[in-house]
Amino acid sequence: MPVGKRICALRVNGELREVAVEGTATLLEVLRYELGLTGSKQGCDEGDCGACTVLIDGRPALACLSLAVTLEGREITTIEGLAGPKGLHPVQDAFDEHGAAQCGFCTPGMIMSAKALLDRDPEATADEVRTALAGNLCRCTGYVKIIDAVRAAGARMKREQSERSPREPSSGGDA
Ligand code: FES
Ligand code: FES
Repeated sequence: MPVGKRICALRVNGELREVAVEGTATLLEVLRYELGLTGSKQGCDEGDCGACTVLIDGRPALACLSLAVTLEGREITTIEGLAGPKGLHPVQDAFDEHGAAQCGFCTPGMIMSAKALLDRDPEATADEVRTALAGNLCRCTGYVKIIDAVRAAGARMKREQSERSPREPSSGGDA
C-alpha cells in the first residue's frame, strides 16, 4: 500500500467497500475517484453548492467536507443507491415528470436532500421543502419545478406508505 494511505472500510449503498485512502481524502474524492460513483457532483468543493450531497445515516451531508476515514461504520447512500428493484425512487421519477432537471448538475444533490426530508415527512410544505433544499444551488431551473417535484414525490410516498400499512381496524366498540 502506498505510504500515507490506510485501508478504510466504507458501507456505501448497502455494500462494504474497502479502499486505500489518505487521511485527508474527502468522501467525495473516494466516491468519485476510487469507487467510480460519479453521481455525486464536484461543484465548488468547498461546501457552498450542495452538488455533492449524500446521505450519512439517513441525513444529508456534504461529501466534499467529509473525511472518508471518519466514516467507517456509517451508512452512506449516494444517488446510485436510490433506485430499487421496482425502478427509480419516487423523487427521481418526480424530477423527471416535472421537468425539474435541466443541465442536471445539481440534481443528484437536490434529490438526496429531498429524500432525507420526505423520509422524515412526506407531507412537507413548500416552505419546508425550500428550507431543506436551501443548501442546494441550481443555476437553471428557478426552483419552482424542483419544489413541485419534491411535493409530488412526497404525496406518492405517503400514498405508497398507506397502501403498505393500511390502518388497523379499531379495537374499540362502537360509540
Ligand atoms: S461540491 Fe460540495 S458543496 Fe459544492
Ligand atoms: S438543473 Fe442545472 S444547476 Fe440545477
